[in-house]
Amino acid sequence: MEDDDFQPLLTQSESPDLQCSRYLRNVQNRKLFLATFGAVLGPLSFGLVLGFSSPAISDLKQSEDPRLILDEEMASWFGSIVTVGAAAGGILGGWMVDRLGRKLSLMLCAPPFVLGFTLILSAQNVWMLLGGRVLSGLASGVTSLVVPVYISETSHWKVRGTLGSCVQLMVVTGIVAAYGAGMMVGWRWLAVGCSLPPIFMLVLMCFMPETPRYLINQERGAEAMAALRFLRGPDVDHEWEYRQIEASGERQAGGLTLADIREPSIYKPFTIGVLLMLLQQATGINAIMFYADMIFEEANFQDSSLASVIVGLVQVAFTAVAALIIDRAGRKVLLIISGFVMAVSTTLFGVYFRIHVAHVNNSSSDLMSPADTVIGPADPLAWLALLSMGLFIAGFAIGWGPIPWLLMSEIFPLRARGVASGVCVVTNWGCAFIVTKVFHDLLDLLSPYGTFWLFAAFCGLNVLFTILCVPETKGKTLEQIEFDFQQSAGREISIQ
Ligand code: BGC
Repeated sequence: MEDDDFQPLLTQSESPDLQCSRYLRNVQNRKLFLATFGAVLGPLSFGLVLGFSSPAISDLKQSEDPRLILDEEMASWFGSIVTVGAAAGGILGGWMVDRLGRKLSLMLCAPPFVLGFTLILSAQNVWMLLGGRVLSGLASGVTSLVVPVYISETSHWKVRGTLGSCVQLMVVTGIVAAYGAGMMVGWRWLAVGCSLPPIFMLVLMCFMPETPRYLINQERGAEAMAALRFLRGPDVDHEWEYRQIEASGERQAGGLTLADIREPSIYKPFTIGVLLMLLQQATGINAIMFYADMIFEEANFQDSSLASVIVGLVQVAFTAVAALIIDRAGRKVLLIISGFVMAVSTTLFGVYFRIHVAHVNNSSSDLMSPADTVIGPADPLAWLALLSMGLFIAGFAIGWGPIPWLLMSEIFPLRARGVASGVCVVTNWGCAFIVTKVFHDLLDLLSPYGTFWLFAAFCGLNVLFTILCVPETKGKTLEQIEFDFQQSAGREISIQ
């Protein structure tokens, strides 16, 4: 490690908590915020990929070029194949973050994002359109793994929750920006616009450091100190933070082996991470977002693109609220409130469909059937559908939207972070694909109200799971979180 001219600010006699508070008092966050901004241009790009499909599908269904016209089947693939690409991106990303580092892995996402949109722009047939979607989906999958890890490894505990929640904030901003821009420009110009943020990300990240934790693990001490100096400003005892990270690295030297899976410090966070992803998708978020247009149509909002923008804005607003309060309120309490609000709203949705079906006296359980979707101007229950939708989206945004991604980046020990996050990303995107694809079958099998009540049951399960299994990570360093899991062999992890 290089010698430095800073004056050590900490004394050995202080308790670790005091040392930590004193350390943070002198931290400057400006450059950390800049690094976070550079990184979250990745999630913004992946939000644009997700949001791009809706306006592009509307345009492509009536394309002037007959080779590019999407029928119903192809339109559905154009939307959903991104999740398949993203699941593959999870596997690739898990490998990349450990081998190539966090920063380089993120920078390498830019070319497939841009290539994906370029392929779509210059498509001569539907297969090129789908190929472009797979490529941009792949980049989205890698990004959804790398960025939370990059942010949590560069942040300190005081702002880690807020900065980590910016990942989801930028995803939903990207979705709503694509919807909004899609109302003003055609799909080709939209694709051009969507290619810009990954290029900015690539340029900005060239000037940002690799994470100190990765560098220390790679025994690149001098670079790790330089990264800490960049991220924390000149006025703190960088060596103190360096030593904390290094000590934790020593406790878990060596790579991850299969035998390690039996250790509670590995399998506990691993199981929690995977279940968080599974349960996030079991809330039905992607199916309900997909149905937003129709629900608004039922409430006589004729312009369904505007409806999607409204849903997106509600998500952005409440995700921003979550980001602002998460480091004070904690992760668990927000997950519990969020699960509860979603359970209530999906129950209300069920009630709406139950009464609604009786109201229109339509025995068909198919939400898509014209008789069932377009009801007269005097639908007395439209408010209930809108209320349920608004509550659900706000509830998701305040907890189960951002927090599973944040926890994924916080709870795994360094040596398992790449592999375990990869499995989480695959689980999330795989489940997103399954839920959107089986939603129609569920409506047939259980009827609309049965389907929403099933989602309600899962949201209730989410609350229980949070209370019983999810550790509170607020106010802890990543090293303390690891230490807690190591100590938890044979007992539950301490719950704050
Ligand atoms: C979920 C995605 C979802 C997005 C929408 C993310 O946290 O993982 O499946 O589409 O939020 O807000």
